Amino acid sequence: MTAADLRNKYLEFFEKKGHKIIPSASLVPEHDPTVLFTTAGMHPLVPFLLGENHPEGKRLVNVQKCLRTDDIEDVGDNWHNTFFEMLGNWSLGDYWKEEAISWSFEFLTKELGLDQNRISVTVFGGDSEVPGVSADEESVAIWKKLGIPEERIYRLGSEDNWWGPVGDTGPCGPDTEMFYDTGASEHGKVCRPGENCGKYTEIWNDVFMEYNRTKDGKFEKLNQKNVDTGMGVERVLGVLQGRDNIYETELFSRALSLIKTLSPNYKETSARIVADHLRAATFLLADQVIPSNSERGYVLRRLIRRAIRHGRLLEINGNFISKIAAEFIETYKDQYKELTTFSEEIFAELNKEEGKFQKALTSGLREFEKLGTNISGQDVFRLYESYGFPPELTFELVAEKGIRVDHKQFEMELKRHQEVSRAGMEKKFSGGLADHSEITVRGHTATHLLHQALRDVLGDSVYQTGSNITPERIRFDFSYKEKPTVEQLKKVEEVVNEKIKLNLPVKKEMLSQEEADRKGAIGLFKQKYSDKVSIYEIGDYSVEYCGGPHVDHTSLVGKFRIIKEESVSAGQRRIKAVLE
Ligand code: ALA
Repeated sequence: MTAADLRNKYLEFFEKKGHKIIPSASLVPEHDPTVLFTTAGMHPLVPFLLGENHPEGKRLVNVQKCLRTDDIEDVGDNWHNTFFEMLGNWSLGDYWKEEAISWSFEFLTKELGLDQNRISVTVFGGDSEVPGVSADEESVAIWKKLGIPEERIYRLGSEDNWWGPVGDTGPCGPDTEMFYDTGASEHGKVCRPGENCGKYTEIWNDVFMEYNRTKDGKFEKLNQKNVDTGMGVERVLGVLQGRDNIYETELFSRALSLIKTLSPNYKETSARIVADHLRAATFLLADQVIPSNSERGYVLRRLIRRAIRHGRLLEINGNFISKIAAEFIETYKDQYKELTTFSEEIFAELNKEEGKFQKALTSGLREFEKLGTNISGQDVFRLYESYGFPPELTFELVAEKGIRVDHKQFEMELKRHQEVSRAGMEKKFSGGLADHSEITVRGHTATHLLHQALRDVLGDSVYQTGSNITPERIRFDFSYKEKPTVEQLKKVEEVVNEKIKLNLPVKKEMLSQEEADRKGAIGLFKQKYSDKVSIYEIGDYSVEYCGGPHVDHTSLVGKFRIIKEESVSAGQRRIKAVLE
């Protein structure tokens, strides 16, 4: 079975069970400044898990692009990834445990043909961390009825069997996880599902989201009982194809065989890290994340630089990362059209970043040479902070040259730095999960007006490539080859404020793709699967693909002011604006 077969089988199976197929959202959470990346299929659905009506109904299914960096140190082993695809089905206050578990089991055993004797499950066994929530014996009973014997059902605490919320607050609940016994284990170690000895591979997670974690850490019952499930495409594919790792699936074969060809000193772990990180980078760039020194851009830069570092360990000569990206674009282009749409930009950014990093290495090396034979921890840190020179490289060089270095001092310096930046992040992201505050919603409506006004003033080559709205400011990225003049920006600002004053109604409509196209709807990505698409119309001024939310009338937006315009990369500009 190929990845394409698996995705299709899954979508069709749940479609037959009354689910509507929804498109994958961007890796960059829209209008949610509290988290950096989409980490699970449920993330874009948070408002609906909390009770808002979803335009497609109560049963949804999709394949979602996800990125998690908490396991980055494990990448290179058999099963861990940063970027991955998640198959997910949801009940928004509709079906509950019986259906969710039985369908998961039916899909695994009947559709995928997995041997039920090799499936073990874990369930929530109660935990004082989650007071008032009892052990999930209901799920245990369902598993037994399906034929999973007591000895393959593990009752565990919240660390293993409680999922969510994504940020500090939001929907969450006990879960039941399904594991496949691969037969193998590392060095004959014995372990249970959930422990990393290589024997059990987690393949699916059914979460019963009936709680909301509040700001003060309490678990309140939601008004509706939701089911949120997640199954990793890479892992299931690995299992189905009889592999003991994800890298031998066709998702990685093109990229890895090129790495093998380019590398005169091939090492499996480094090759896997290069492949994983460049796959993630390719998808992030396609979702308009640009390498930088902060937040998302910093994560992207780190992934790229780590890949280049491992490319050096593989002794790959010259620039190579955009060649690997090209292989991933080829592998995924049918499923994710944005990869081909933005391929030029992806290659340009990767080449630029590779050039920058080479420069950083050259100047870092020059500084390193000056340091002599007693290198302090602060020196290592300064090389890292001022020149972007990776500490691992410093440590490698000192080991080669027999130079002494104060590791402890470096660790302390690094820790101090991380604490300072973490405090900054916490402050910045302290707003609860999905930010649907009034000011953010106003900002969202303002971006639609801004998008149309930019097209009016600069022409139709302008299209939105990204946006991020916080209570403090609006950030709007768009394609445009030149620098707009001060007069043009003034005009844009005037048009937006004029439309705000007209107090135009803001209306949501569900249309077929053809009807929406006929109306000239503009917007980031067209939704691929649904019968109906959701658009927002602002008077007769703007029509845009969008899921909302928005204000009802434009006068509620307030006064719009552009505070900055700058370049983000070749052909891409960024406007920062505020509402007054
Ligand atoms: N949201 C759940 C997970 O990511 C399904 O495991």
